[in-house]
Parts: sequence; structure tokens; C-alpha cells
Amino acid sequence: MDQQHSEKNIVQRKWNASSRDKYENRPLRFAWQNPTVSRFINNHYLDGSYGVMYVLKNYMEERIINKALELGGGIGDTALQLHDLCDIREFTVIEISDYCVEIGNKRSAEHNLNIQFIQGDLNYLELPSDTYDLIVANGSLHHINRLEHLFSQVNSALSDSGVFFANDYMGPSYMQWTKVQLHIMNSILSCFPDRYATTSHRNNEICKTIKPIPIEIFQKYDPSEGVRAAEIFKVMSTHLNVERVIPICHSILYELLRGRIHNFDDDDLQDRFVLELMCMFEKILYDYAVVDSDFNLVIAERKLH
Ligand SMILES: C[S@@+](CC[C@H](N)C(=O)[O-])C[C@H]1O[C@@H](n2cnc3c(N)ncnc32)[C@H](O)[C@@H]1O
Repeated sequence: MDQQHSEKNIVQRKWNASSRDKYENRPLRFAWQNPTVSRFINNHYLDGSYGVMYVLKNYMEERIINKALELGGGIGDTALQLHDLCDIREFTVIEISDYCVEIGNKRSAEHNLNIQFIQGDLNYLELPSDTYDLIVANGSLHHINRLEHLFSQVNSALSDSGVFFANDYMGPSYMQWTKVQLHIMNSILSCFPDRYATTSHRNNEICKTIKPIPIEIFQKYDPSEGVRAAEIFKVMSTHLNVERVIPICHSILYELLRGRIHNFDDDDLQDRFVLELMCMFEKILYDYAVVDSDFNLVIAERKLH
């Protein structure tokens, strides 16, 4: 089997398994799933919006969306929410995992929605030109190697007044954290009491150090994870007209709280205080340019070449 197909198989297997877990167990993994953290993001980065998709809803107000497309739609959480928020007549979702396609179509039928999930690889996607009024990518771009191909397809597939909306990790490729990021994360971790440091992806072991993950580990378990994340914005802006960039930072909290966020009880005043303090600290680091924003929302429109 050639490298392209073997990588595709690894990626498909990975997403079949993790999406099944997501659908069946709804695990708490990432900082933004915590209500205190998501409230902080909404209030301090998103102008008081109720969440990322509300930013899009506000941007699309008054626009007619005949055809929408989501790139890498998973089990359909984003598509279902968007369908609720915006008036979309025809909605297609492209997804590499056959499990996600099956669950997405099942959920769409259960809710009687006109959302169709189709299996496809975004690296080799061919789209009809001048077709979509809205194309959305929520957390899928950092899995794409052939960014130039994908963005050129997106640009030509947008209708005249079409909008491309992305919400993604755009930090160091393969999550190779900078020295500054590692230093800040490990300094904070060293202050954590044991009860904040149990780590779900390490069998709830207490873990107070974050080490760089060797690239070979990514290649073995998921060669797509963050593959060209640091280049996403640059490649996107050569192909599309970027209208707005909204930073949501997460350059410390993403890795610091990954697999540790379940230790923070949102009904506990002290836990909420600690989380809010860390969110504020991260924002100050970003405001004073100590760290870049690793997670960003981008709104773009068609570029005439
Ligand atoms: C972080 S999840 C986001 C899922 C969804 N957008 C959401 O908001 O719930 C990334 C998704 O991208 C999909 N994906 C990764 N690489 C892909 C590729 N090359 N082609 C199509 N989908 C891909 C994965 O299967 C996964 O469902």
C-alpha cells in the first residue's frame, strides 16, 4: 500500500474510534468544554456572543444561504447547531470517517433535516465552482496536508457573495510547543495541587510536566494531527480574501488543561476562580505579545485571481 493510502487508513481508523467515543460517551477533554472557560472566551474574545457559531450567525444575518458545505463535519454537532441558527436550504457535510457519515446521516434523519453527510478526503476534494453561499470548517483544517489544493477549491466553490468561516488550531505544526509555551505551562502545572493534575489520557495518573511529543508519535498514531497548522493562515490568505480574524488564544490552556479539565468542578467556587484566573493570565500573555493566538476564527470571502 502506498504512503498516501496507509496514512488515510490511519486517520480514518483514528476518527472512527474517537468519534464513536464522542457520540456514545461525550467525554470532557478540552478546556473550552468547561462552562467557566467558554464564558470567558465569549465575554473576552467574542464580544459577548454565545459561542463561535453565533459569531457566524451574526455575520450571515440578512444573507440568503441556498447551499452550505461543512468540511470535516464529524458526527454533525456543528452542522446541527448551524442548521438551527441559520436558514440553510441545502446542507452538505464532507467527512473522512465512515462512522461519522453514518451517525451524521442518522441524526439528520432523526431530526428531519436536509443535511447530507458524504464520505470524502479534504486533501483531494473536488468541488463544483460558484456554488456555495457558506463553507464552514470547524476544527478540521489542522488535519490537512494539501492546504493549497483545499483553499483553491474553496475559493472557486464559493458563490459571488459566499462566505468561508473557519475556527481552528493554527499554532505550531504537530503541536511542537515553543520553549516559552512549555516554560509557562510547566510553571503553572508545578503549582497545581494533585487533584487538578490527574490526567485522563494517562489513566488518571497525576502528571505535572508537559514534554514535547516526538513527531514519530504523530506519524504512528495520527499523521494528520496539526500536520501544517502553522501554515493554515498564510495559505488561506493567498487563496481567499480574509475579512476578519478573531483570536481566541488558548495557546497555554489548550495543552495545560487537555485531559485535566474534568478536575475542575463548575459548581465549586474555588475551581471556578482558579480557571478564571488562568484564562485571564493567558489573555494578558497574549495582549502583551508573550504568546501568539493558537486558535482563531477567520471569516473570508472569494478572491478573484
Ligand atoms: C476536530 S473534529 C471536528 C468535527 C466537527 N467539525 C465538529 O465541529 O464537531 C475534525 C474532523 O475532521 C475530520 N477529518 C480529518 N481529516 C480529514 C480529511 N482529510 N478529510 C475529511 N475529513 C477529515 C475528522 O474525521 C473529524 O471528524
